Amino acid sequence: MTLRPVKIAPSILAFDLGNLREGLDLASRGGADQIHLDVIDGRFAPNITFGPGTVKALRPRSKMKFDTHLMIAEPRLYVDRFIEAGSDLLTFQAEVLDPEAFDYLHSRIRSMGKEMGLALKPETQLPAWAEERLSRLSALLLLTVNPGFSGQAMDVSVLPKVEKLSRLVAERGLDLDVEVDGGIDEGNVDEVAKRGGNVFVAGAGVYGRPDPARAIGELRARALAVRGGS
Ligand code: DX5
Ligand code: ZN
Repeated sequence: MTLRPVKIAPSILAFDLGNLREGLDLASRGGADQIHLDVIDGRFAPNITFGPGTVKALRPRSKMKFDTHLMIAEPRLYVDRFIEAGSDLLTFQAEVLDPEAFDYLHSRIRSMGKEMGLALKPETQLPAWAEERLSRLSALLLLTVNPGFSGQAMDVSVLPKVEKLSRLVAERGLDLDVEVDGGIDEGNVDEVAKRGGNVFVAGAGVYGRPDPARAIGELRARALAVRGGS
């Protein structure tokens, strides 16, 4: 079975929110594969972060893939604005979707040549309607913390779900990243890699370290080591 590539996605929410351009530069310097942008609207989760205007302001600064994690209650109202702002991957929470909403968002995103992801909170299982639509997704994001804040400890009870869904993706031969988000650091990235995750989001595990660029390299090395270097 071919392994999907290891990708490191620093979560800029953990950086100085008044200086996001510097956070983006640090991620680029460390060789990050994509920058993870957590959009929270104060309705889906108990925090308010930033919106399409901020994504747009950051866009000219970097060619890195913009991995936009939309923890918002009404994605249909905002999907076009995040596409126009420069998001490359738009990931929505399954908890606020139904098949019709999914199909609408997917058609908007694909018509603009962008990618769609689906996120699950720690306690959410993959709904049947989403399992039927996996081949239309580019990423399945599994939250290992409750959405809202950077700096929480990983909920390891989610790891069996990471393993189960990674296996499903591999068995079906899908071109789909399994992205794990929440509390990842140098001490547990290997455990997540063992369970089959291939995209590692890290906020505090990158920006909370004295040398964020180096922390990215360290996470990558540890994830690769588990997989025998590939
Ligand atoms: C939680 C966010 C995460 C978070 C990750 O709402 O989706 O992306 O910022 O930060 P750490 O790695 O610090 O848990
Ligand atoms: Zn996130």
